[in-house]
Amino acid sequence: MPEIKEIKKAIFPIAGLGTRFLPLSKVVSKEFFPLADKPMIQYTIDEAVAFGIKKIVFIISPGQKGILEYFKKNPKLEKILKERKNEIFLNELEKIQEISKRISFSFVVQKEPLGDGQAILLAKNMINKEPTAVFFSDDIIDSEKSCLSQLNQLFKTSQAPIIALKKISPERRLFYGLVEAEKIASRIYKIKRIIEKPSEDTTLSELTVVGRYIITPEVFEYLKKVSPAKGGEIRLSGALAKMIKDGKIVYGYEIDGEWLECGNKLSWLKSHLYLSLKHKEFGPELKKYLKTL
Ligand code: UTP
Repeated sequence: MPEIKEIKKAIFPIAGLGTRFLPLSKVVSKEFFPLADKPMIQYTIDEAVAFGIKKIVFIISPGQKGILEYFKKNPKLEKILKERKNEIFLNELEKIQEISKRISFSFVVQKEPLGDGQAILLAKNMINKEPTAVFFSDDIIDSEKSCLSQLNQLFKTSQAPIIALKKISPERRLFYGLVEAEKIASRIYKIKRIIEKPSEDTTLSELTVVGRYIITPEVFEYLKKVSPAKGGEIRLSGALAKMIKDGKIVYGYEIDGEWLECGNKLSWLKSHLYLSLKHKEFGPELKKYLKTL
């Protein structure tokens, strides 16, 4: 019986160019765009912390200081808020510090945007041959049981790589990676083929790849040898596709919950609206406001 390994680490690649958000992404990386009253990345970090991840490795671009500043204590600002007796705002800062106490963060710089797979490979030495969660922070899942917990349910017995999947309508399929897969149990699939952003036939499959994965140490070996995709990028999906070609098992798990995609302007605006309307403090007032428009 193979040793059962638990997931304690996560990789957050956030070094992409975010071209779909230009010109704003020239100055703010998309992971720091707001969703309701928090930056996008806060949602995925919260998911990782709630799951019990102990270490996050961020892959950042050169000069991308935002994430470091976000978690660093800011004594000067705290002093001013204390002097002004701004308890509410001090509490907001304290919440971020609480996260830093529960989890350790590491940062690796990806010098060139050579693809999400190349970014993930840069974390290899910090992962130490353990299974790892991968978060693409522009995909947020609003669900009762977190997306990673759902994937982990399958990982506990399979100990093989898992891709989060979601069924979507034909019009939306053009923009996402699809998979052809064999259903083997409720919500569980064996992936047969990964189709990157299908330009022609969207009837091939209704299952879309969502940006949440569990990867095994073997995936790093495949990331080292996989050929770049069109545009010269090394993609995680390419490495997983090569594994499947070589007869390895890669599972898909059809997740439960609302998939809030935030990778382009329209989907981000929709997700922002969704989460703002669900916000405990602001939601009711926003709903009233929308009715007046
Ligand atoms: P995306 O394709 O969603 O992000 O990559 P992008 O390339 O930044 O966006 P566009 O297509 O230009 O608008 C998925 C994840 O992988 C990271 C991104 O930051 C995102 O979180 N990524 C992508 C890297 O870290 N490095 C890369 O070279 C490419």
